Amino acid sequence: MTSRELVEKYLQFFKEKGHSVIPSASLIPENDPTVLFTTAGMHPLVPYFLGEEHPAGKRLTNNQICLRTDDIDEVGDTTHHTFFEMLGNWSLGDYWKEESIKNSFEFLTEVLKINKDKLAITCFAGDEDAPKDTESAEIWKKLGIPEKRIYFLSKEDNWWGPAGETGPCGPDTEIFFETGEKSCSSNCRPGDNCGRFVEIWNNVFMQYAKTSEGKYIPLKQNNVDTGMGVDRTTAVLNGLADDYLVKDLWGEIILAIKEISGKDYEDETKAFRIIADHIRASVFLAAEGVIPGNKLQGYVLRRLIRRAVRWGKKLKIAKPFLEKVAQAVINSYKKAYPTLKEKEKEIIAVIKEEENKFSQTLEKGLKEIEKIGELDGKNAFFLYETYGFPLELTEEIALDRGQKINRKVFAEEFAKHKNLSKTASAGMFKGGLSDASEEVTQFHTTTHLLHAALRKVLGNHISQKGSNITSERLRFDFSHPEKLTEEQLKAVSDLINEQITKKLPVKVETMSLKEAKEKGALAFFGEKYGEKVKVYTIGNSNTDFFSKEVCGGPHVEDTSEIGRVRIIKQEKIGGGVVRIYIAKE
Ligand code: ALA
Repeated sequence: MTSRELVEKYLQFFKEKGHSVIPSASLIPENDPTVLFTTAGMHPLVPYFLGEEHPAGKRLTNNQICLRTDDIDEVGDTTHHTFFEMLGNWSLGDYWKEESIKNSFEFLTEVLKINKDKLAITCFAGDEDAPKDTESAEIWKKLGIPEKRIYFLSKEDNWWGPAGETGPCGPDTEIFFETGEKSCSSNCRPGDNCGRFVEIWNNVFMQYAKTSEGKYIPLKQNNVDTGMGVDRTTAVLNGLADDYLVKDLWGEIILAIKEISGKDYEDETKAFRIIADHIRASVFLAAEGVIPGNKLQGYVLRRLIRRAVRWGKKLKIAKPFLEKVAQAVINSYKKAYPTLKEKEKEIIAVIKEEENKFSQTLEKGLKEIEKIGELDGKNAFFLYETYGFPLELTEEIALDRGQKINRKVFAEEFAKHKNLSKTASAGMFKGGLSDASEEVTQFHTTTHLLHAALRKVLGNHISQKGSNITSERLRFDFSHPEKLTEEQLKAVSDLINEQITKKLPVKVETMSLKEAKEKGALAFFGEKYGEKVKVYTIGNSNTDFFSKEVCGGPHVEDTSEIGRVRIIKQEKIGGGVVRIYIAKE
C-alpha cells in the first residue's frame, strides 16, 4: 500500500463515520506566537477543545503536516522525523472512549486488514492528577485484545499534551504493531525503542487543561484527539521496519543521495536518513516562506540545512548537492502538495543559497575545531559567530568527542556580543527555540493596535481572521471587501504610531469571557486558556483606552517599547479578506 492510499482510506473511513475532512493548517501556527511549529493535528484545534464551536462540526479528520524539533537528535534511526504527516480524527465534546477505540480497531483490522494478534496496547496507569484508565483497557478487551497484550504505563508514556506550556491534554491509549524484529534481549514491551513494537496510533482523551501553575483541571467537555504517523504506518503495512524504505515517500530522495554521493544507503544509513529527513522538512518550511536566519523558525531552517550539509561532508560529497535532494522531495510530494511545485524556484533558491553560505566556511570551521582541545560555551560562540556553526551542530561534534557545551556560557557570550538581553538569547536557545523573542512580543502587541486602528478607520465590520509573526514582521488578515486606499493606509499607520509615541500602558486582567465581552473586549478566537481569559487593555484607563482584546500572547509593558512601525505591504487574499504586513520603521 502506498502512503497516499493510506491517507485516502483513512479520510474516507472517518468521513463515513460522520467526520468533516478539514484542510491541513500551516506548519507555522497562526495566532500562537508561543510555539514555533504545528507539532500535531490538534494544535490548530485548541480553542475548540475548550468549547468554541468549530464551523465544520464536532467530528473532524485530516492529514496535518507537522514539524517537531524535539526529536532532532533521534533522526537517523528508523522512525523519527522532524517533518511528518499525521492523520488525525477528533471528537469535540462528541463521542468518547468507546467509539474512538472501536473506530481505530475497525480501521486497523477491517480496512487495513492488520491481524489483531499483531496489536499491543498501552493505557494510562494513573497518578495523583488522573485515575487509572481501566475504561479503555476494558473496551480493548471486549474487542478481543488479550489482557497480557495491554500494558499500563505512567504519564511519561501515556499522557499527551499540552502542545505548548498550558492547555488541553489528557491520558492516552496507544496502539502498537508488533514487527517481529527485535534488537534487544530483554523482555521488552511497547514504548521500549528496540523495534519490536512500533507505535502506529495514539488516541488521546483530552479531558483536562494544564494551568500555568502545573495543575490539571477538568475541561467543560470530553474530547478525543488521535494521531497516526503516515511514514510509520505505511512502513508497517508494507512489512518494513524502516520508514525510509517506503518507496513512494523516500525512494526518489534516497536515490538522489545515492547518485550524488556514489554511496549506498545500506552502508551510510544514518547520513542518508538525516539528509533526507532534513531536506524534506526544509522544502516544506521554505514553501511556507520561512527564510534561514538566526531567530525562531528561520533558525530551525538554517540548522536543518546546515546539518544536512555537514552530513553530506561525511559522505565526502564535494560539491553543492542539496538542490538535487530538494528536487527529489518536490517530485515525491508535488501531487499531494501542489504548492511545492508552484513555489519550486523559491524553495530551491532558498536552500541553495543557505548551502552556499555555509559551505564556504564549513571546511575552515571544521579545521578550526580540530585545533580546539576542549569545546565549551565560549568557543561554541566563536564558531557560531565566525563560521556560522549552529550551537547544536557544535554540541553534536562535542558529543562525538565526549565533551559537553555549557549552554548558559554560550548564551552569555551571545548576549554580550549581540547586545541582546540575557533572557531573549537564553530563551532563544532553550527547548527548541519555542519562546517568544522581544521582536515577536513587540509585533504581537502591534497586532492589537492594528486591529483597533482598522476598526476606527474602516468600521466595526473588521474582524481578525488570522495573524502570523516572525522577528522581522507581522502579518495580519482581516475581513474587508477590498484593499485600503493610500489615505486609509496612512490613517491606520499614523494612528498606530501615535499610540506608540504616547507610551500607553498595556494592562492585563483575568476575567470570564462573558465579562470581557461586556467590557467591550474584542474576542475572536474564543477562550483559549481555560475558564478565565486574559484581557489586554492598551490605554490610560479602563474607560479611556485605544484597544481592549482577549488574548493569550506575549505583550510589551508600554507601547513605546515597540518603536515606530510602518505598513510594508497589503494584499487581497480572497474571500473578503485583506492581508497587511507591518515591519519596524
Ligand atoms: N496529539 C496526539 C499526538 O501527537 C494525537 O500523538
